[in-house]
Amino acid sequence: MKKPDDPLKSVISHAKSYGFIFPSSQIYEGISALYDYGPYGVILKNHLKTYWWEAMVGLRRNIVGLDASILMHPATWKASGHVDAFSDPLIDNKENGYRYRADILIEDFCEKLQQKIDRELEKARKRSGEGFDKDHFLITHPKIIGYQEQKKQILRRMVCSLEKEDLADVKDLIDELGITDPQTGSRNWTDVRQFNLMFQTRIGSLAEESSTLYMRPETAQGIFVNFPQVQKSARMKIPFGIAQIGKAFRNEIIARQFIFRMREFEQMEMQFFIPPGDEMQWYEYWKEVRMKWHLALGLGFENYRFHDHDKLAHYADAAADIEFRFPFGFKELEGIHSRTDFDLKNHQLCSGKKMQYFDSDKNESYVPYVIETSVGLDRLFLGVFSSCLCQETLEDGSARWVLKLPSCLAPVKAAILPLVKKDGLPEMAEKIFDEFKWKYALAYEEKESIGKRYRRQDAIGTPFCFTLDHASLEDQAVTARHRDSMRQERIPIARLSSFLEAETNMAKILKKSI
Ligand code: GAP
Repeated sequence: MKKPDDPLKSVISHAKSYGFIFPSSQIYEGISALYDYGPYGVILKNHLKTYWWEAMVGLRRNIVGLDASILMHPATWKASGHVDAFSDPLIDNKENGYRYRADILIEDFCEKLQQKIDRELEKARKRSGEGFDKDHFLITHPKIIGYQEQKKQILRRMVCSLEKEDLADVKDLIDELGITDPQTGSRNWTDVRQFNLMFQTRIGSLAEESSTLYMRPETAQGIFVNFPQVQKSARMKIPFGIAQIGKAFRNEIIARQFIFRMREFEQMEMQFFIPPGDEMQWYEYWKEVRMKWHLALGLGFENYRFHDHDKLAHYADAAADIEFRFPFGFKELEGIHSRTDFDLKNHQLCSGKKMQYFDSDKNESYVPYVIETSVGLDRLFLGVFSSCLCQETLEDGSARWVLKLPSCLAPVKAAILPLVKKDGLPEMAEKIFDEFKWKYALAYEEKESIGKRYRRQDAIGTPFCFTLDHASLEDQAVTARHRDSMRQERIPIARLSSFLEAETNMAKILKKSI
């Protein structure tokens, strides 16, 4: 099995050619960082939503769902701190106007130091073989100690300067580190300045009557403002959570890397309400639970890692990312944040409405603390899609693209393929299709050679092809071809339903995920 030479390019082109993701408004040359999900993309995305919703809401008694509106009262964003603090430090290349996030340039510099550390480790592991003591090596090797110290100092200075709003020092740091424009190598930078990421729109029919609204930059605030109503109507007792899947909008400064950083994207967020003082215990709990959920997808333990935040969002007192190995390296996939009582307290203050909970066990009222889990659906899509896509060379020297999705996520579960378009095989195949279409997403193909039909199903991730040949008319069985191994087996039609049920049911991974 081979990973393509330029993995991201192959991912983008495969996603477009096979109907997963298209650039938005392409007939008008597209628009930066906006994408549309095609026929197979929308199904895969829906399966990912189901996987999250079932694990977070369906299978838990202490989490309930919500679907709040995208446009909210503008006071929401003042109270939440987004009007004043939801901004990124921006820097431009004076020569060509290329725009970057200053903090990301610095973090990428530190990532290069980390890669140097990893390379030293790998060399030492090869030299020492079996008995290699990684922990000892990390704290004794002079080069590694140097890189680690440098990384720590750079990040500490960046965080400190950003917290103090000392943007001149962030610029100095970029200059001192000799950070160049990743696209051109130039160092001709402007000053660093802050840029608010919220999109604005207007409500009301006449200009003079209308007022400014914001497109929500996170779904979380819809949960916070509904906290008292959800708690009372669903009769929830703390600790409990409210979960939501929905669109969010950010006018991102850099919008590259395909659907990794979009201006319109979907989040799957859950706010877990707890008594003050219990936050660290629940923070650790949700870090572990969410990592388990990702690992249950079976994409490889080595592709995930935690990253504790050096720079905290304006609402958090602790935060960690679950990072995934995307085609361009380890990057944030999900955030777990300890948000304290920041949001509820500020909404209480600004709205004048009580955002408290009466704890009958403690016989007291308090504003709950919150642990948040927030995963980007599009990032999850990209992680799953890119790590499942591979190119294989077959015995006859030809190549096949195969999307090795977990079966329960595959847009099409099985393709029904009559070997030839005559002799009663299409009729028999259609009968099978009509019988099983109620329960499973199926494809039906009778054109082209069987080899070409297999290749197409491989490329869209269909885990099984059921081929009907002349023998099927006699033995009432089909040849089932397995996508990943290309193994073939004969299965009686009477057993197809139980076969598909066992192979494609999401319950299998859900059981491992919580
Ligand atoms: N409510 C907390 C919050 O929004 P965040 O770390 O800014 O926290 C959470 O975002 C997740 O949303 C990220 O881990 C990422 O998966 C996703 N996300 C954020 N910005 C995104 C963007 N521009 N495009 C795609 N996904 C994004």
